[in-house]
Amino acid sequence: QIAAIHAPGLENIIVAETTLSHVDGQKGELILRGKAIDDIAGKQSFEEAVCHLWQGLLLPSQTNLTPAFGTARLKAFQAVEQLAPLAKELSVIDWMRLGLDSLTIDEDERTNAVELTAALAVFLTSARRLKQGQTPITPDPEAGFSKDLLFMLHGSEPDKEAIDAMDRYLVTILDHGLNASTFTARVVASTLSDMRSCLSAAIGALKGPLHGGAPGPVLDMIEDIGEPKKADRWIEQELNAGNRLMGFGHRVYRVRDPRADVLKEGLKSLTHLTDRIEKAQAIEQAALKALKRHKPDRVLDTNVEFYTAVLLDAIGFDRTLFTPLFAVGRSAGWAAHVIEQQSAGKLIRPQSRYIGPSI
Ligand code: CMC
Repeated sequence: QIAAIHAPGLENIIVAETTLSHVDGQKGELILRGKAIDDIAGKQSFEEAVCHLWQGLLLPSQTNLTPAFGTARLKAFQAVEQLAPLAKELSVIDWMRLGLDSLTIDEDERTNAVELTAALAVFLTSARRLKQGQTPITPDPEAGFSKDLLFMLHGSEPDKEAIDAMDRYLVTILDHGLNASTFTARVVASTLSDMRSCLSAAIGALKGPLHGGAPGPVLDMIEDIGEPKKADRWIEQELNAGNRLMGFGHRVYRVRDPRADVLKEGLKSLTHLTDRIEKAQAIEQAALKALKRHKPDRVLDTNVEFYTAVLLDAIGFDRTLFTPLFAVGRSAGWAAHVIEQQSAGKLIRPQSRYIGPSI
């Protein structure tokens, strides 16, 4: 019998080969198909970055993703009315998943990749408006992805600053190696299940507070602390109570998460918010100092979620939309991994160690 390896959390175990993205936890580097994240985020629109990530996966008719996503948004919008009665009962992200389940699916997974990514933007904005008693807004198929997302949400023309910040955010979180939700998508894909089921499962993994659910609690922390001079005491109490500071620490990075700085850079153009941003930075510094004291043997630096909370709050998103928005951007990454895994053809099936009673 071959000895199995016991690896809780699958830490340091490689279960797939990918051409999509690489996370170098020692150097603090994220590479998307040969380009560093800071050469893409803030420089490309969401569609351009998705095109870069999906190289070789797109149909010839999809190479200009702006109209392809636009048509797909209109298609998804047709499902909104029927699902509207459930919007008040479900969280935004659960309603988005319901939306995915209601769509008719193509035989070609590349078409599904486009349609499901676009649909999530429609379901996020529609769910939010329905929850607030507002009418969902029909997508503009000719608009850019970020612009239309903001338009569908607020019902007014977004300014350039907000569109740029949205593009920067969505590109920054597009793909990130074999994180928990991407792994989930690949596990489902490895059974040769369909794209929709993979994305639906991935959303479930994403919404947990140790993964994509962290930025809401980050904002709670910043607001609870209020004044930076109160930060040391607040943080000390949290750590002494055995709680984790959200927005810090990472399974792979042993240095600062490069995405934190890409998002922090995006705050520079929001000059009318300088005070709030400076406050958040002071709280970050207090947290880093405290974490160093509490866990001197483990590098616990800022991760993407800290500045996700600061940036999205700055452009008018409330915390209930942070994780749903993460799902919109990451869905394009999940979709690419699903196609890659489906062609890899190997079932992912680890083992567990039985520690129950013997016969
Ligand atoms: N605050 C305080 N202590 C921490 C933190 C934190 N944020 N993160 C890790 N630790 C401690 C942890 O308590 C443990 O201590 P001990 O060995 O005494 O039990 C030690 O550091 C190692 O933690 P771990 O949970 O074994 O490490 P992990 O690699 O499984 O955890 C993590 C990674 C992201 C789940 C963790 O750092 C964490 O819970 N961070 C806060 C939640 C967060 O910000 N999540 C977003 C992650 S980035 C987005 C993404 O890519 O998904």
